[in-house]
Amino acid sequence: MQAELKAIVAEVQEKATGIHSRAEFEAYKATVVGPKGSLTEIMKGMGAIPKEDKPAMGKLINEAKTAVQAVFDTVLERLETAELAARLGPAIDPSLPAPDLPRGTLHPIAQVREEMVALFRRIGFSVAEATEVETEHYCFDALNIPADHPARDMQDSYYLPEALKVGNVSQLADEKYLLRTHTSTVQIRTMLAEQPPIRIVAPGRCFRRDTPDATHSANFHQIEGLYVDRDVTLLDLKATLDHFVKTIFGPKAKTRLRPSFFPFTEPSFEMDFYSPDLGKLSNKWLEIMGCGMVDPEVFKAVGIDPELYTGYAFGMGIERIAMILQGVDDIRYYYQNDVRFLRQFA
Ligand code: DAH
Repeated sequence: MQAELKAIVAEVQEKATGIHSRAEFEAYKATVVGPKGSLTEIMKGMGAIPKEDKPAMGKLINEAKTAVQAVFDTVLERLETAELAARLGPAIDPSLPAPDLPRGTLHPIAQVREEMVALFRRIGFSVAEATEVETEHYCFDALNIPADHPARDMQDSYYLPEALKVGNVSQLADEKYLLRTHTSTVQIRTMLAEQPPIRIVAPGRCFRRDTPDATHSANFHQIEGLYVDRDVTLLDLKATLDHFVKTIFGPKAKTRLRPSFFPFTEPSFEMDFYSPDLGKLSNKWLEIMGCGMVDPEVFKAVGIDPELYTGYAFGMGIERIAMILQGVDDIRYYYQNDVRFLRQFA
């Protein structure tokens, strides 16, 4: 009987490791301690055992029962842990980013801005910035834009009330403050801070009191370019713009300079381009920027000697370029942040 008990305990210990579900466990447990189980049968046999042997046998049986129960407890614990793990799913690392979030993308305007900036960086331009809140001096006077110019009209620009003059945006105390109407302000701020040679592009946000329609927005973006050195000529400007247009709109694109007027350049031009690979816009001359040779008056305003230095400047709207490249026919789409629109540029 002692040997039988030992065999039962050994068998339970061995079989236990192969049990992987509660159903298997219950079924197996019944074969040991159920009404007809192996251990139960031995306990039933106690009656036939001589009286004097009973205490010793009882002790052995109890020991066997305890050993078997310990094995069953371990199995049950193992099964419960496995069941819980199955309900919780795979192990996670809570420090990782949520896997379900879709990745964002750059805004289509930012994509075009980055493409343009990268192009100019490759040919030696660096990126300059200045504030969006400006004074009339930097926005107009220093750029040779006279006091009676319509761009300075309170109706055309966003002027800031006195109370909003915060921060150190100007050294000039009694200046009028406004939201910059163009990025040409960065020309002035850069030339005051650096000595030639200067070769910068300045991407940034501008503001005008425009009534929004398909091609106008009160807030929009420009890229300004400025190159100042000895012996900079119109040919340098033309070559740079040719390179720009061919890189952005394809190698077959052509440029054309049309005489125009800007107070801060002399001579001044509108630059048009056309490209045979532009879908609906193919082979039409499209005006995309203003440009010219830096006016000596501007050099004087920033203390650069116009006898020693010459320069060219250009400025264009990023939205205009983006609309052509992306086939967008209404500027307002760019500002509505409708993901159905934005996703198309992902
Ligand atoms: N600032 C002008 C505008 O907003 C654009 C422009 C024209 C910039 C000619 C220039 C330039 O640098 O040379 O309409």
